[in-house]
Amino acid sequence: MDLFEYQARDIFEKHGVPVLPGAVAEDPASAREAAERIGTPVVVVKAQVKTGGRGKAGGVKVAKSLDEAEQYAEQILGMDIKGHTVHRVMIAAGADIAEEYYFSLLLDRANRTYLAMCSKEGGMEIEQLAVERPEALARIAVDPNVGIDDAKAKEIVDAAGFDAETGEKIAPVLQKLWAVYRDEDATLVEVNPLVKTADGDIFALDGKVTIDENADFRHEDHAALVDTKTEDPLEAKAKAMDLNYVKLDGEVGIIGNGAGLVMSTLDVVAYAGEEHGVKPANFLDIGGGASAEVMANGLDVILGDDQVKSVFVNVFGGITACDKVAEGIVGALSKLGENATKPLVVRLDGNKVDEGRAILTEANHPLVTLADTMDGGAAKAAELAAN
Ligand SMILES: Nc1ncnc2c1ncn2[C@@H]1O[C@H](COP(=O)(O)OP(=O)(O)OP(=O)(O)O)[C@@H](O)[C@H]1O
Ligand SMILES: [Mg+2]
Repeated sequence: MDLFEYQARDIFEKHGVPVLPGAVAEDPASAREAAERIGTPVVVVKAQVKTGGRGKAGGVKVAKSLDEAEQYAEQILGMDIKGHTVHRVMIAAGADIAEEYYFSLLLDRANRTYLAMCSKEGGMEIEQLAVERPEALARIAVDPNVGIDDAKAKEIVDAAGFDAETGEKIAPVLQKLWAVYRDEDATLVEVNPLVKTADGDIFALDGKVTIDENADFRHEDHAALVDTKTEDPLEAKAKAMDLNYVKLDGEVGIIGNGAGLVMSTLDVVAYAGEEHGVKPANFLDIGGGASAEVMANGLDVILGDDQVKSVFVNVFGGITACDKVAEGIVGALSKLGENATKPLVVRLDGNKVDEGRAILTEANHPLVTLADTMDGGAAKAAELAAN
């Protein structure tokens, strides 16, 4: 899960990373109040969207009065930045910036380690810098078991080419950012810019943090970071029912059990769909050991997606027996009644396949077609979606 800048700022503060006062606002009047509370002669009004390049898009503005803060908030709220609507702005105290640096810490999957990147030339063009002058961006591997200790922090600031005095000020900040990364189970902590002010102080002025959701079980407080305003309602519903659901942009809904089977079902549907000009609409894994109720919940989510024109249910019975799956389908269809309008292609195999097929045959629902094979089922579902 990616965090908003204001959430990253709060987490930084919690771990002792130097940040400036900041507050979030959802309307111009509250933005003005926030600016008044912060009380610095200059504040910065910043669009809160989970994408980069806000400054260039006009989403970061320096306000020299309360009126200006309110005006800029009005301009920025509701703006569209790369497809993200701005619902909130952060009002931050204005810094008197002398220099802008770059620092990030991320998961380096290819090398099975963490990677720190640091540059004396931070600011808004870091991607360009990385391409045009890669030597200006130091890359230092960080051992997950050691993290950024004194020695590693020194290695990073030296590699980035800081003078001794600045390096000594930055090194402890890097160690605090490591604490954020480790203690919050992050996969990315990026600060751009990390600044030195005219007074020589170091501050993190912009933060991007990505949290590893696999570690949610040990972070009760992370649930509050979920952005309910922009979360896909169907994904939220599926999550609440403990289903693994991912929305894609095609027309054929897919339900399967087990990630492996669902992934290969996506492939065969994509392949079969080429002929009909349709694609998978989503990915829903009801998991191993799924019950009739889980199947019904899964169908409920998938049929709730307006883009879905047909559904392919591909289940290999193991711990989940096919009769339970069939009962789930019949149950879901009767619950939906007249609201069920999309054709369903069902392919069952494995444990209790005969019982499962018998249940569906007996129910004889007009929307349900039984398929013998995975390829045959995919082709049928694609054809139905195209019509
Ligand atoms: N609190 C602040 N005080 C003074 N200047 C600021 C402040 N926050 C940001 N700036 C200036 O605005 C520039 C852009 O801000 P910021 O890094 O937050 O946005 P961005 O880089 O455009 O966004 P993104 O990181 O999403 O691409 C900074 O490089 C800095 O020069
Ligand atoms: Mg930035």
